[in-house]
Amino acid sequence: MSALFQPYKLKGVTLRNRIAVPPMCQYMAVDGLINDWHQSHYANMARGGAGLVIVEATAVSPEGRITPGCTGIWNDDLAQAFVPVVQAIKAAGSVPGIQIAHAGRKASANRPWEGDDHIAEGDERGWQTIAPSAVAYGKGLPKLPRAMTLDDIARVRQNFVDAAKRARDVGFEWLELHFAHGYLAQTFFSAHSNHRDDIYGGSVENRARFLLETLKAVREVWPENLPLTVRFGVIEYDGRDEETLLESIGLVRDFKAAGMDMISVSIGFTIAETSIPWGPAFLGAITERVRREADVPVSSAWGFGTPEIAERAVKEQQLDVVMVGRSHLVNPHWTYSAAKELGVERASWTLPAPYAHWLERY
Ligand SMILES: Cc1cc2nc3c(=O)[nH]c(=O)nc-3n(C[C@H](O)[C@H](O)[C@H](O)COP(=O)(O)O)c2cc1C
Repeated sequence: MSALFQPYKLKGVTLRNRIAVPPMCQYMAVDGLINDWHQSHYANMARGGAGLVIVEATAVSPEGRITPGCTGIWNDDLAQAFVPVVQAIKAAGSVPGIQIAHAGRKASANRPWEGDDHIAEGDERGWQTIAPSAVAYGKGLPKLPRAMTLDDIARVRQNFVDAAKRARDVGFEWLELHFAHGYLAQTFFSAHSNHRDDIYGGSVENRARFLLETLKAVREVWPENLPLTVRFGVIEYDGRDEETLLESIGLVRDFKAAGMDMISVSIGFTIAETSIPWGPAFLGAITERVRREADVPVSSAWGFGTPEIAERAVKEQQLDVVMVGRSHLVNPHWTYSAAKELGVERASWTLPAPYAHWLERY
């Protein structure tokens, strides 16, 4: 009996299996607005059979986009454009989720295949970035951000709340706050990037403040019966891993107390110089530790996209939901392939009927 193909219930939502398509930026929007590319991409992902499809990092404000091609949800028109996407995901039997985000000092960048670096000074496509402190990331992202004022902090927190309301109103059933990957929230938590000397910097409590305040404010508007999750980098691989992990697990416990339903365990990416041990499921043991020590449901990604690896991670209770990213780009029907490989009975019924019928019979 496959563990990966067991349904999973979180709050009022039941996933048909433990497989999720994680948020993956497509960099194809114009002024934040989604288009046919996103419509077909997300419909395909959902038709492939995953239990959950999370729409890519979608900016809560224009300056929170990573690139000019990133999706946005900072006004009602942008939000309304997601209605057909939500409907297509639901029609395929999957749960529609969205990740809302602010890129902080990593914003104002070129698309990955056009350089993946900051848009040059003076280029009118770029914009002023903001961050907890005026500290640049470095490498290809050297732009010095403007240190946020207390008004900026309150405004961005409210941007997250407004984005959550819009996501709720257009029918998303799973909301993820992007607090990972060196974007704004992660840079508040990391002492590498947060040099503030007010209540938002210094001690771990202060560095956690923006994240916890934002989570609590979002929880007030996000329906109680729908999952609210946080993607967070619990480790940087910068040589002080145990210290960071202990701080992070403490924060995950606080997230849980503040109403978070699941943590998506990821990497901090707040500094350019790291030694990340890339490899299949390399975050598995850390994910299991966060799950056990914070006593909270977890998901994770990075190298779980092989059926046996995904199956083992769920079976060994390293995580509750497994995120399969790049393998879904290669094969949107990854779930079907995994079901076949794992010997799941009537695997073809992970596919839509117009496909499944023929695979079942012939
Ligand atoms: C094209 C692409 C875009 C991504 N965009 C996002 C994003 O919007 N938000 C996010 O949290 N992670 C993003 N990621 C990271 C993925 O969610 C995932 O963690 C990563 O692909 C590792 O999982 P995998 O080994 O199954 O591909 C992106 C990854 C890819 C390949």
